[in-house]
Amino acid sequence: MNVSTGPLTSYEIVYDIASVTAHHDCPDIPFSIRENFLKGIDNPPPGTVIERYLGYLDDEPVGYVELDFPQLDNLDIVGVDLLVLPEHRRRGVGRALYDLAVERAAVHNRKHLQASTVDRHPDGKAFAEAIGAKPGLAELRSRLDVTALDDSLLASLRAEAEKHATGYTLRRWQDVPPDDLIDGVAYLEGRLNADAPRGDLTLEPEKMDAARIREDMLTRQKRGRRSYQTAAVTGDRVVAWTWIVAEVDQPAHAWQSTTIVDPEHRGHRLGMLVKLENLAYVREQRPALAAVDTFNAAENAYMLKVNRAMGFRVADSWIEWQKDL
Ligand SMILES: CC(C)(COP(=O)(O)OP(=O)(O)OC[C@H]1O[C@@H](n2cnc3c(N)ncnc32)[C@H](O)[C@@H]1OP(=O)(O)O)[C@@H](O)C(=O)NCCC(=O)NCCS
Repeated sequence: MNVSTGPLTSYEIVYDIASVTAHHDCPDIPFSIRENFLKGIDNPPPGTVIERYLGYLDDEPVGYVELDFPQLDNLDIVGVDLLVLPEHRRRGVGRALYDLAVERAAVHNRKHLQASTVDRHPDGKAFAEAIGAKPGLAELRSRLDVTALDDSLLASLRAEAEKHATGYTLRRWQDVPPDDLIDGVAYLEGRLNADAPRGDLTLEPEKMDAARIREDMLTRQKRGRRSYQTAAVTGDRVVAWTWIVAEVDQPAHAWQSTTIVDPEHRGHRLGMLVKLENLAYVREQRPALAAVDTFNAAENAYMLKVNRAMGFRVADSWIEWQKDL
């Protein structure tokens, strides 16, 4: 059989490849509905150029690679999402798409490819090792079973956290942060790559500002997502922030995204407090919510401890790989 690669001919084919592959490699993570996935292609995150290619066996498209080239920071990196349909693996399509990724990385002057694989299925890890990538960061996906939440436990965690967190006000909102908080949110989000464990991955703090946060939240809305956010504020300063994002048409599932506390205000249980408040907010807004998934670095003991106390349990292990060119 002849292996080849080429430009994208149809968004629909990409959805078919991506959804079948996702169900095979991570069966318990609900995959984006077709409409929102397609909206995502037309509404990329701000500050990122995305290229997409198909991999073929003879004339049949069986693989897909998405290459994300950050434009505002991390200019040495390309994020890679490489997928081959399960029944067509081990025929060289993955390697052909990888060779194309290396070619495109050179065109964009990038020095590092980064991609993630899940341990529950052996193919991704074996492939990454075969192309000479190095494990950069071990991650855990944890899941909160919202249907089994113990509300009295959450109330006691909250009471305990509040004892350590006097002098802070909690604010919550959907999507774009309010004008008086957006600069503070951008400051915290911009710290993330410096503050959260990043292992051996080459990553620099993102250049964040209010305009980028606003555009990011607006493009998420255009991709059919809603973001539920809570901040802890003291005076006019945002000192902790967390958010959960969900697809509008997937009422049962959501993703816990960034949680970050300003270094000067750590040790006051603000991480726990904003997470509990935000979870309550999401449950009010999305009463059918059944599961929340989140990723953490395996070495991020503090965040994992907070998550475990709330009821999150580890679902699987992931590796973020880096291939230096
Ligand atoms: C990773 C993936 C894209 C590979 O696609 P593929 O078309 O099977 O890749 P190739 O056929 O080009 O394999 C290249 C080499 O990787 C290695 N490899 C791939 N899968 C393997 C497995 N299950 N066991 C052992 N080695 C494996 C082999 O060395 C293989 O060469 P060989 O077949 O000549 O021995 C595919 O398995 C996939 O879509 N996985 C899920 C998504 C994912 O994890 N993507 C991220 C990859 S960094």
